[in-house]
Amino acid sequence: MADKHSRLDGPLCTAHRQAMADIRNIVVLTGAGISAESGIDTFRSAGGLWEQHRVEDVATPEAFARDPDLVLRFYDMRRANIQKAYPNAAHDALARLDQYWQGNLLIVTQNVDDLHERAGAERLIHMHGEHLSAWCLSCDGRTRWHAPLSDRPACPHCGEAALRPDIVWFGEMPYRMDEIDRAIGQCDLFVSIGTSGAVYPAAGYVRTARHYGARTLELNLDPSQGSIMFHECRMGRATDLVPAWVDEMLTHQAERL
Ligand code: APR
Repeated sequence: MADKHSRLDGPLCTAHRQAMADIRNIVVLTGAGISAESGIDTFRSAGGLWEQHRVEDVATPEAFARDPDLVLRFYDMRRANIQKAYPNAAHDALARLDQYWQGNLLIVTQNVDDLHERAGAERLIHMHGEHLSAWCLSCDGRTRWHAPLSDRPACPHCGEAALRPDIVWFGEMPYRMDEIDRAIGQCDLFVSIGTSGAVYPAAGYVRTARHYGARTLELNLDPSQGSIMFHECRMGRATDLVPAWVDEMLTHQAERL
């Protein structure tokens, strides 16, 4: 496979430039790495969330049934943290792409923070849910939520004290899968940013995108578990790689118009 690991300062071949110039429909997958420079912990890096907490204790329906207080406190802590964080240059760059890209674009995030939206991105799907949403297990209603849940507040829709974090836990089905699969089946370019490729179905999207003929690009601090599958991998920090890539795409578009 040609032009595999190119650092930000590496050469970009003419064929690659041409391939990028022909792109119209883009799917961007983001993971915890895009929010790391906003001060939000990733999951699997040294000292990451899954080193501080056992997944089985805080991120499964079984854990919630066994010890709801522990689970609600864990998500109260994370919900409070993201409200102290701000979008970084990578979030801003994707919002800029969303604003100016004239082809199809879908940002599929595994992240449950709201930094993409706060940066201005709109063509966005949270496949693993959102911290700032509460889900009522009594009436199935969802409500924008910024406060703690561990004091068992009443559901604004039905009044029942049956709210849980609106987060997709391990063993649960991610959200809006049909829309995501459709967009990946139709994209010309699939870009993965700040994800380790450790969790399915997201980790399988690069293979699906390639199957349908898309070009694939990884922007990550370290090689991921799926790096071998990408046409090209650029290693570095999201706040450096993503603005440069967005500039490249918008320049190609401007040259085309
Ligand atoms: N810039 C770019 N990439 C970064 C940066 C950075 N500043 N910092 C870390 N990374 C990369 C790491 O190299 C790693 O590959 O981001 C990735 C983060 O990986 P994980 O912590 O495993 O997070 P993620 O891939 O989003 O996890 C997927 O697992 O725990 C579940 O539901 C949770 O959505 C999450 C899913």
